[in-house]
Amino acid sequence: MKTPMAITNQRYRLGYHLMTPGGWMNDPNGFSFFKGWYHIFYQYYPYAAEWGPMHWGHARSRDLVHWETLPVALAPDENENGCFSGSAVVYEDKLWLVYTGHHTPNAVDPEDFYQDQRVAWSEDGIHFTKYGANPVLKTPAGNTKHFRDPKVWQDGDMFYMVLGSQATDGLGRALIYGSPDLLHWQEVTELSKAVSKEKEGYMWECPDFFHLDGADILLMSPQGVEADGDRFRNLNQTGYLLGHVEEKKLAHHGFVEIDHGHDFYATQTMLTPDGRRVMIAWMNAWDSSMPEIEDGWAGALTLPRELSVKDGYLVQKPVAELKGLRQEVLLDGQLEAQQDYKLGKVAELKLTFADKAEGVLLLLTDGSRNLQLSLEPGGRLVLNRNTEDGERAAWRRSEGPLKLQIFLDKSSAEIFVDDGELTFTERMYWQDDVTCRLLAKSANQTKAWRLESESNLY
Ligand code: FRU
Repeated sequence: MKTPMAITNQRYRLGYHLMTPGGWMNDPNGFSFFKGWYHIFYQYYPYAAEWGPMHWGHARSRDLVHWETLPVALAPDENENGCFSGSAVVYEDKLWLVYTGHHTPNAVDPEDFYQDQRVAWSEDGIHFTKYGANPVLKTPAGNTKHFRDPKVWQDGDMFYMVLGSQATDGLGRALIYGSPDLLHWQEVTELSKAVSKEKEGYMWECPDFFHLDGADILLMSPQGVEADGDRFRNLNQTGYLLGHVEEKKLAHHGFVEIDHGHDFYATQTMLTPDGRRVMIAWMNAWDSSMPEIEDGWAGALTLPRELSVKDGYLVQKPVAELKGLRQEVLLDGQLEAQQDYKLGKVAELKLTFADKAEGVLLLLTDGSRNLQLSLEPGGRLVLNRNTEDGERAAWRRSEGPLKLQIFLDKSSAEIFVDDGELTFTERMYWQDDVTCRLLAKSANQTKAWRLESESNLY
């Protein structure tokens, strides 16, 4: 019997972000609502704080904020070497999981693999049964071995699935399949394909496709996009193609990065019962350093963020339910420049500057780890953390007074700029309480709260 990983040190355990009870996490999977609960699953290896044969970890919540960890939902069986990423959909009063079977028949060479699509279901949202006649979909001709991460939705009497794929010419693409019953699938279209490996990637992981505010949006995580100035600085990217479907193809304006920080990958969205499109992501990237590995765990999910479209771009706002985490007010009013204000490690900070506030703006520091934001003339917003390759930057889209909303947690900082027009997601491994310092004098309105820090049950 293998024993699940135990946590050996609490120092970086997050206060209100979802983590594993021990062991490794990557992509969020199966984000859904079923019988009164939000469900989230995730790529999980319970037996070490490193990637291994993938299971689906599982948690549920009434409010998207307080999560209760449930037993592992899927584990690889004798026909699978891993249960890779996928999604969930409600059908005939059951919660169906649609996932990728990862197979490595040649045990000595992990690169010698194939992938297919599989289903499982549950009546209680806790115990899952795999379909006896899996797989429901095999890799088609014209595709390499990369064929994974189904995201399923219902439209009338039909289900549709968008899949991440690599065509045999080596370009990333998204394929759409249709099914009347989740068991029989037919290809509908190649929705979109990379223009080149350098610009749009050789493999599109974790695709998601939805209609929002009059636009059709393909959200995905391409591998292989080359860095271009401030853009695409991480190993792999996450972003979207936004436009309209015309004759089963997505006509769009090019690939746009969705978050500009170091630690953001593999998004998934769901539609809440009240019609909001909410996105969550892995709060790491494949090139993130993860010091929590020493403590028996690795990886976390971002806050859930409500999406909308403004001027042809996606905007992300922390879901309204997060206000429920607010405890006592820590700051209220105007901050003096060059003064230190204590925030602790688990806090929300909102700052509105009186004007564009160019210059070095804000330093969050625990005395050894720094996170600094500065605004250059013209609107280039620069984030610096004092680690190797610590700089990330993006251009503001608004001209008005700069607004910042920052969610601090024990090993993270999520920064929403201008009401979510830009975001930066960072793992920050705070060693001590964090103070906030404004570097230039600039009239501002500030409010900060301590946040509840026991919002997860394990
Ligand atoms: C993305 C990814 C997916 C795959 C999963 C495996 O981070 O590589 O494409 O299904 O992780 O854990």
